[in-house]
Amino acid sequence: MTIGIIGSGAMGAGIAQVVAVAGHEVFLLDQSAAALKKATTGIATALRKLAEKGKMPTEAAEAAIIRVRPTSDMQDFAGCGLVLEAIVEELSVKQQVFKQVEMVVSADCILASNTSSLSIASIAAACQRPERFIGIHFFNPAPLMALVEVIPAVQTREGLAEEMRALVQSWGKLPVLCKDTPGFIVNRVARPFYGEAIRLLEEGMADMATIDWAMTELGGFRMGPFALMDFIGHDVNYRVTESVFTAFFFDPRFKPSFTQKRLFEAGYYGRKSGRGFYSYAEGATPPEP
Ligand code: NAI
Repeated sequence: MTIGIIGSGAMGAGIAQVVAVAGHEVFLLDQSAAALKKATTGIATALRKLAEKGKMPTEAAEAAIIRVRPTSDMQDFAGCGLVLEAIVEELSVKQQVFKQVEMVVSADCILASNTSSLSIASIAAACQRPERFIGIHFFNPAPLMALVEVIPAVQTREGLAEEMRALVQSWGKLPVLCKDTPGFIVNRVARPFYGEAIRLLEEGMADMATIDWAMTELGGFRMGPFALMDFIGHDVNYRVTESVFTAFFFDPRFKPSFTQKRLFEAGYYGRKSGRGFYSYAEGATPPEP
């Protein structure tokens, strides 16, 4: 099955790598030529590194690299069996993109979103055939993180969630079926994790490095909350927090913080922009992910 992926940023590039390694032909689409270039170069570098380390045969790595075809033309999706979107976390933009996708793909092509927090039902509602729509939510970085949430919407046809669960499993991932509730499983549990960490900081209880250290060294987490938010990107993470808060009818448990909002407004997105809670500028010593 050929797979179309829309958005070649952190998630789209990672997902393209996963499905190409699993043997699918991939059309990777982005509106930004620079993002496409960065994604294809990144995938090639990552796969060649894996081959060098003996984690996959060189021929398999080279074959997977060739299977990822960058494109800016949605017509290339005409023969796809699955189109998965990983663009900006904004409902209207995602809805608009799927309207365009449906003009190109066949009637039985499955449509999926990698949204972290938007309701799958609300994206599906913009489609002519909402019954073929589903959430398939990877974690960052997609090639390394095993968990994938599979989220049927109320409109999703019977049986599709099970088909997608099996497909995701065939990619070497661990799928979990989730209900279409804000943040699904992981992002719902993670909101208070980030929120409480920021509140601790705001209350002056401890500095960021201490909180991150405590959560990794003592709490057993792989990354502390501040290093993790910088890794995810505040453009993504802040929007997800806002969206989950709104979707839970402004439940104060999920209330966003001004501290993070200001970083978002300033364009201090974290690792990707060189500055977030920590500085990633040359000469700075940010925490290791
Ligand atoms: P990103 O900002 O790294 O990449 C988004 C890409 O989409 C950019 O290259 C941009 O040029 C492209 N794009 C935006 N609008 C487009 C359009 N209309 N047509 C074509 N391309 C378009 O974002 P990231 O982090 O990859 O997130 C993408 C989605 O995945 C979001 O919905 C996010 O919530 C979700 N997600 C993010 C995770 C993370 O840790 N960053 C984890 C899991 C899900």
